[in-house]
Formats: sequence, structure tokens, C-alpha cells
Amino acid sequence: MFQTYFITGAQGCIGSWIVKALAERGDTPVVFDRSEDARRLNAIMEPGALERVRFIAGDITDVAAVRSALESSGARRVIHLAGLQVPACKADPVAGAFVNVIGTLNVFESAKAAGTERVVYASSAAVFGAADADTPVKETAATEPETHYGVFKRTNEGSARVYFLDHGLNSVGLRPLTVYGVNRDAGLTSDPTKAMKAAVLGVPFRIRFSGATDFQYVEDTAAAFIRCADQAPEGAHVFNLHGETVEVERIVKVVNQNAGRDLVTFGGPPIPIAPALDDAAIRHMIGDLPSTPLEVGVRETMRRFTELHEAGQLDTSDIDSEISATH
Ligand SMILES: NC(=O)c1ccc[n+]([C@@H]2O[C@H](COP(=O)([O-])OP(=O)(O)OC[C@H]3O[C@@H](n4cnc5c(N)ncnc54)[C@H](O)[C@@H]3O)[C@@H](O)[C@H]2O)c1
Repeated sequence: MFQTYFITGAQGCIGSWIVKALAERGDTPVVFDRSEDARRLNAIMEPGALERVRFIAGDITDVAAVRSALESSGARRVIHLAGLQVPACKADPVAGAFVNVIGTLNVFESAKAAGTERVVYASSAAVFGAADADTPVKETAATEPETHYGVFKRTNEGSARVYFLDHGLNSVGLRPLTVYGVNRDAGLTSDPTKAMKAAVLGVPFRIRFSGATDFQYVEDTAAAFIRCADQAPEGAHVFNLHGETVEVERIVKVVNQNAGRDLVTFGGPPIPIAPALDDAAIRHMIGDLPSTPLEVGVRETMRRFTELHEAGQLDTSDIDSEISATH
């Protein structure tokens, strides 16, 4: 039977792919976002599928707005993605806490009041500090975040647990690291995707970090959120997501190969987050998950960027400084 899903932050990258997948299978996604700019949805969805989407504009820090939007949506399943990324939280930790921590409490409060079946929320691998790439970290590993953002995400995992203990509210927190694909245009780890876009345009691009990272194709990330929203058992679960642990050097090589020339370089410190995540726990709970190989995900992303560019619809606002530096 078709379902209605209430998705916060769904005008963003991961949300747009969740909305696409749900609408294409016949469900009704309700987008709750402070932004009314649907350019990311337009970049990946057919007009027919877009017609299934409902939009409610609102701010996650406003509990009354979240509560009334969730109630009016009629959704029984909530996917919570709205949030500020690492650089924004670093620049203004107070604003970061309002959106990422209070905003998440507002979602749990609203879900409790609405009798929601389950909340699946975006935590992050940033709950872990730096670690080596040889030992994949499990959920049982100590969490010592090295960013305000990571601290906020870890707090949300604790809040989710307490909402289950106090009110029986079921939840799943998912911890992606470096998600890539069309629409990934913001945050510390968005550089590889920006590099793919720049390469399609023939513009040089330097990825500003080095070392290894856990690299996951956005369609796979979206599938994990949906699977958990549909079938996670009772409780307050937290799971790592894992794509492929790869050196930035290899990402650069694959992008340059697809571009047919060496436009992308890299440098800078490694990301201070464990680069190898063990995802055995989520696979054990909900079965196998899609796992797009790096070469396939990069090729598909660059193919879609090319298609959008040729149609005059490629949004380049995230790499405008690189574009203007070449002119
Ligand atoms: N992209 C990644 O690699 C990654 C990795 C780990 C965790 N996450 C988490 O996953 C979630 C989604 O990530 P994304 O890459 O899609 O982010 P994004 O920045 O592309 O999208 C975030 C969305 O949240 C909305 N938003 C921000 N503040 C809001 C507010 N006050 N009220 C309502 N909406 C608001 C924005 O308008 C935007 O549409 C975030 O919580 C992020 O922290 C992402």
C-alpha cells in the first residue's frame, strides 16, 4: 500500500534523492524545508513524478510549525534531514545548535505528538574523530567528535534513545560520511562532487582534503533511509553507512579519466573523521543494501551533469569561483 512520508530538509541533496525514489514508486513525499527552491528536485526528477510531491515551507527551529506541518501531512513515517553542515556549525556554533539540536528535538516532539510510526534521522560519521583507514569502525567504537557538528549529531543520537525510553518513539539514526552525486553542493565533503561538475565544464578544480574517506553514492544513501523508514524494528537504533573507503587520489583519477584530461587535483589535511565505517549492523538488520561501485557512481554523476549542462539547466553556483578563475 502506498504511504505518505514527511521529509525535513528535502530540498537538499540526500532529501532530493529520497523524494525521487519515493515518488517514482508511487508514494507521497511531503517536503518540509525552509527553502522553497526546488532546483535540486528539478535536476533529477521527471515532471510526472514531481506532481506527487507536496511542499510545506517552514523552519525546523519552530516547533509549532513542525508540529502542524507533520499533523497536516498525515504521514506516519518521518525522515529528518534538515540541518547545517560542518562549516556552518564551525562558523556559528550557536546557530548550528539551534538547527541541528533544537530542530531535531522539535521533530521528535512533533513525532511523539502525532503518534508517528518511526523517525529516521541523519546522524553522521562525524560522531567519530579521526582514525586510520585499516580498521573499519563499528557502532560500538568510542565517539569522540572533532567538530561542533559531530557533537550535535552525537547529542541527537542520545535524544533519540531517550524518546524511545520515555515515550516508545521508534527511531533510526544513520551515519553517512562523504555522500556524492548530483545535488551534493554544500558541506566539507562536497568537493569531490564539485570536482565532477567542474570537470564536465572543462574547469580545473582542487579538492581541499587528502587521505581516505568513506565514499557513498547518493542514491544508495537515499535507499538506506527509505529501507529503514519502511522496515526497521522497534527501538532507537543507530547505524553506520558504508560505501567504499577510498583515497582521494583514486577519486581524482577516476574523475580525470572520465573527463579525458587532468583537470582535478587535491591537497590539504585529511578529514578529521574515521574513513572506514563498518556497516555490518544495518545489513544484518534490514538485509542487503545497494552499493554502487565508485566508477559507476562517478560516471553516472558526470553523465547527468553533462545532460543538464547541454540542456542549459546545470546549476553552477557552487563552483562559480573556480569558473571565474579560468576566465
Ligand atoms: N551529505 C553528506 O555527505 C552527509 C554526511 C553525513 C550526514 N549528513 C547529514 O544528512 C542531512 C542531509 O544532508 P544533505 O547533504 O542533503 O544536506 P543539504 O545541505 O544539501 O540539505 C539540507 C537541507 O536542510 C534545509 N534546512 C537547513 N536549515 C533548515 C531549517 N532551519 N529549517 C528547515 N530546513 C532547513 C536546507 O534548506 C536544505 O534543503 C544533514 O542533516 C547532514 O548533516 C550528510
